[in-house]
Amino acid sequence: MSTNTPRIINTVSALREELNRARRDKQRIGFVPTMGNLHQGHLDLVARAAELSECVVVSIFVNPMQFGPHEDFDAYPRTLDVDCQALNATACAIVFAPTVREMYPEGVNTEIDVPKLSTILCGHHRPGHFKGVATVVNKLLNIVQPDIAVFGNKDYQQLQVIRTMVSDLLMPVEIVGADTTREGSGLAMSSRNAYLTDAERTTAALLYACLNRLGVALQNGDKMGVHLKQERDQLRQAGFDLDYLEIRDADDLTRGAEEASRAVILVAARLGKARLIDNLVVDLSAV
Ligand code: PAJ
Repeated sequence: MSTNTPRIINTVSALREELNRARRDKQRIGFVPTMGNLHQGHLDLVARAAELSECVVVSIFVNPMQFGPHEDFDAYPRTLDVDCQALNATACAIVFAPTVREMYPEGVNTEIDVPKLSTILCGHHRPGHFKGVATVVNKLLNIVQPDIAVFGNKDYQQLQVIRTMVSDLLMPVEIVGADTTREGSGLAMSSRNAYLTDAERTTAALLYACLNRLGVALQNGDKMGVHLKQERDQLRQAGFDLDYLEIRDADDLTRGAEEASRAVILVAARLGKARLIDNLVVDLSAV
């Protein structure tokens, strides 16, 4: 793995020029889109991209279109200098850090919508969010035109929205899902964990413990209704404001898991100033 200092590029035209050079040199291009405030989870995606390509591009762009009017767009941590330092020690070749004007020079006149997947679960609680994600990821993929793009399973519904968009629109890119990187406590790493107090951080680890208990029950073939109710009650008692705790078919989030060979248990909850999400995929083929 080569770990040169990445080039920081702010414009679409400069990025296209640089990537044309890489393509002429027969390099495969790998892409990791992010909103910055990078943590080890992001860096693990970069390492995965480097296994699959020779030229890794990381985008850092806090996308206004995916934030609701009362969400944390203004407060979202912007730490470009520290992020670039963190990328120095990785195989990232290029950091693409455009302005909002560069990404939306004419505002938003075209939207990408994956309606069935985008109105359930997080989409129900964050109307318009996945339209913003799908639109910006579509634009970023058009700019970078990578061979592969790596996304975290941590944002399970987001990954499904992107896979569906890429498949339906016949986009020539391979979407790669990567495992969730966790703190020692089990808490999934997230830029939004920065909003947690120390006490809340301890409480936040209960989410993953809850997913694991439900995973064991699912694999035991238990009826899940009572388990789900118990776990929802426990999370609320611990101080979470629960958006949802649900079990779905891992390959089709619009369906329950009754007939599924793989289930996914998904949770979203607010704790203090943070909205946390996590999930666990459970293999049911032997159940
Ligand atoms: P962001 O939250 O910065 O996440 C960027 C990528 O990192 C996503 O693919 C996300 O799933 C992945 N990721 C986050 N936490 C992770 C963890 N603990 N382990 C592994 N991967 C993790 O997701 C977004 O940005 C945006 O919606 C984006 C796709 C960039 C579009 O704006």
